[in-house]
Amino acid sequence: MSAPTTINIGLCGLGTVGQGVWKHLSANRAELESRLGVKLNLARAAVRDLRKARAVKIPASKLTRDPLAVATDPQIHIVCELMGGTALARKITLAALRRGKIVVSANKALICQHGAEIFAAAQQHGGHFFFEASVAGGIPIIKALREGLVANRFPRIYGILNGTCNYILTQMEDRDAPYAAVLADAKRLGYAEADESLDVDGWDTAHKASVLAWLAHGVWVKPAEMIVEGISRITPADFKNAVTLGYGIKLLAVITRDFKRNELCVRIHPTLLPEGNVIANVSGVFNAISVTGDVVGTTLYSGRGAGQDATASAVISDIADGVALLRFGKGAHLNSEVTTAACKDCRLAPAESIRSRYYLRLTVKDQPGVLARVASVMAKHHVSIASVIQNPAERAGAASLVLTTHESNERAMGATLRQLAALSSTLDEPVLLRIGDFND
Ligand code: NAP
Ligand code: HSE
Repeated sequence: MSAPTTINIGLCGLGTVGQGVWKHLSANRAELESRLGVKLNLARAAVRDLRKARAVKIPASKLTRDPLAVATDPQIHIVCELMGGTALARKITLAALRRGKIVVSANKALICQHGAEIFAAAQQHGGHFFFEASVAGGIPIIKALREGLVANRFPRIYGILNGTCNYILTQMEDRDAPYAAVLADAKRLGYAEADESLDVDGWDTAHKASVLAWLAHGVWVKPAEMIVEGISRITPADFKNAVTLGYGIKLLAVITRDFKRNELCVRIHPTLLPEGNVIANVSGVFNAISVTGDVVGTTLYSGRGAGQDATASAVISDIADGVALLRFGKGAHLNSEVTTAACKDCRLAPAESIRSRYYLRLTVKDQPGVLARVASVMAKHHVSIASVIQNPAERAGAASLVLTTHESNERAMGATLRQLAALSSTLDEPVLLRIGDFND
């Protein structure tokens, strides 16, 4: 059968990302068509509210409230799922794939939760699923892992995967801006998820880390199997302490594989990074990822991780891949259902294998013997103190103790933290941050 000369594209969702795709596909249509060798037709778009004012002009005849009708329309070759959420998104994604269509998705929550089912459906029914926009916005990290770095195994991948959190942390650090006001800005700028707790509590980063871990190691790690900590307990005092110690604070995803022990670890947490580290200096909505491959060494990727235009760039690159697939067939591409490296018999690293140095901030009664009690709890769990700073706390009669440790592990630190929190001299829940001794 000959390839179509006009490719019909259907968008399910016309919000921040969907409108960006419409805007840029319309503006750059002639150049894209000449590059891809086909006509591109933005055929239909599904929205929740037909009356909503939108920044892009779309004929009313192209709008529907029924995304399933777009996903199953026999005239549509490429379906872009840009709605968010998981239940309806799963339904329309599977419906399109079961009809052998190409689906382009920006939905990391969907992939993390239902990736195995989606890729199986694509394989079974001859559909294809592209997902460049699901991780790190405009940075082509999916293509980098799957294509450019296919020769490698990956002992370590780490980086900033959430633009909203990096924007909030940067604004708090640079402007001493209050957390709530900066979060409101991130929402207005179109960076945040509809449910912003996905961003600030670390879940969005976990969804993206799950996708990267699958690409790199061929195994689905669910957020419940990761350490997932967000940014909401970080205060301006932590930034000041970090600077005093020579660090910046970033919310990182860290994916490590110990090939000797065959252990995989995926963790999401605010991390102190040495101030000379490149990723420590990545600001605002930008994301950055360090990928260490056993063949290539360490490579770094940086760019806008959220927002309309950067995300549209990634979605349109997937549409272009879909067009090439329709024109030239499967042989032209790495099969999107095949992972790079299967993690056979690999297990999730136990807590004692997850090693790090730690930063601990305690608000304690400013009384004789308190520091000695803290030190004794840490010694009991074989956690060795590297440095101590004492600052006055905001409330009367209290002090802020900031301790850093030598290398320890998650089991020992978890036990230490529980015991410190239970001391009568500890006034607030302790804040524990990991120190990332990453030099590249
Ligand atoms: P958004 O602005 O909230 O847009 C969602 C769109 O989906 C809206 O047009 C909405 O219609 C439509 N929609 C929702 N439920 C629907 C339903 N039941 N039936 C029909 N239409 C429905 O979200 P977004 O920021 O564009 O994000 C979309 C996806 O991209 C999410 O998976 C998100 O995680 C992902 N993503 C976002 C970014 C970013 O920077 N924003 C970056 C990368 C990935 P109405 O307009 O009528 O309400
Ligand atoms: N809310 C996400 C972020 C959008 O801030 O990174 C991009 O995936």
